[in-house]
Amino acid sequence: MAASSATPATGEWIMVTGGAGYIGSHTLVELIGAGFGCRVVDNFSNSCEESLRRVQELTGKPDMLDWVNADLRDEAAVAAAFEGRKFGGVIHFAGLKAVGKSVEEPLAYYDNNIVGTLVLLRQMRKAGCGLIIFSSSATVYGDGSEPPFAETAPVGRGVTNPYGWTKFMLEQVMIDAARADEGLRVVLLRYFNPVGAHASGRIGEDPVGIPNNLMPYVLQVAVGRRKELTVFGEDYATADGTAERDYVHVVDLAKGHLAALSAFVGGKAPAGLEEDEAAHPRTAVFNLGTGNAISVKQVVTAMSAVLGRELPHTFGPRRAGDLARVFADTSKAERVLGWKAGLTIEDMCKDGWRWQQANPRGFRDEPAE
Ligand SMILES: NC(=O)c1ccc[n+]([C@@H]2O[C@H](COP(=O)([O-])OP(=O)(O)OC[C@H]3O[C@@H](n4cnc5c(N)ncnc54)[C@H](O)[C@@H]3O)[C@@H](O)[C@H]2O)c1
Repeated sequence: MAASSATPATGEWIMVTGGAGYIGSHTLVELIGAGFGCRVVDNFSNSCEESLRRVQELTGKPDMLDWVNADLRDEAAVAAAFEGRKFGGVIHFAGLKAVGKSVEEPLAYYDNNIVGTLVLLRQMRKAGCGLIIFSSSATVYGDGSEPPFAETAPVGRGVTNPYGWTKFMLEQVMIDAARADEGLRVVLLRYFNPVGAHASGRIGEDPVGIPNNLMPYVLQVAVGRRKELTVFGEDYATADGTAERDYVHVVDLAKGHLAALSAFVGGKAPAGLEEDEAAHPRTAVFNLGTGNAISVKQVVTAMSAVLGRELPHTFGPRRAGDLARVFADTSKAERVLGWKAGLTIEDMCKDGWRWQQANPRGFRDEPAE
């Protein structure tokens, strides 16, 4: 689409790679709402332009968003995306994320996620853009310690799949790049389990194929696309025997990106980064989660309450590689960024269900009358 020539209220344009995707689209709404302009670079391999048009509609500021259909591995296309405008930072969501598929197709995952990021970092440098905020994952903590995981917990032990390794490796790539380049600041955001949707029901998660994660599966059972949920494992060492995760509402997560961007944009750095600076100059790391461990049974109960009927479910054996409990220590993001997740598991179920009901086939169809 044509480049917008408008000036954002903050004066800053931000490049958002993978911005058409689930977390990216919700983040665009918050960024644009706060007065940033956004240019998305996406190859639409796991998304579509419709999500961006809906962001324009939701924000009511269509000239604060433009996009370039490009693969991050295409160096000339990425260079062109940086042309004609100065960017105050990059939020880097673009990547492949299906854990199971990454085991089947490791080379495709390493190629897409690693090469795309190397090209991006090179082109940022050429364009004189000195801030990158990266979508990392709680998966980097593996089984190296007991939850709650603080940012200082060991990473990389017990990572079980190529997807997780790309996050671990890319964290290291960025740490090294920032150490070597005084003009570069890196912010690593480790997400826990993002779920839910924008309260409008206009944007949400649109998984292709059989969902690998709990909440999209639950929603597809709720809407009748799948018969029942199989709960993997009822014999974990947790309060009710089912696995516990730290589910975070995608709108809270999006606000976490706005908090991180606001703290670092324009060459600023917030107070409280002494430990980060001692470990890795110019790299800051934050967990984005709620700090609460919610079990699969609790998710089923919360969703059943929203539906007003019991979500069909059955119990099966544990799934290989699943940990019993994963949750965040979120105190650092609160202390340094002033960000804290506020929405509950009930909100996540309610908003996810609103999106699913209005868009049973995701962005592929307009809502049923
Ligand atoms: N959703 C989660 O549970 C979760 C958890 C932790 C981390 N993350 C990370 O957060 C980021 C965003 O996740 P999401 O859930 O929004 O995923 P998503 O698949 O909805 O969004 C990713 C976007 O990147 C685009 N993309 C992929 N490869 C690209 C390439 N080579 N060039 C250009 N665009 C490309 C896709 O088309 C898509 O729009 C990803 O990096 C993901 O690994 C997600």
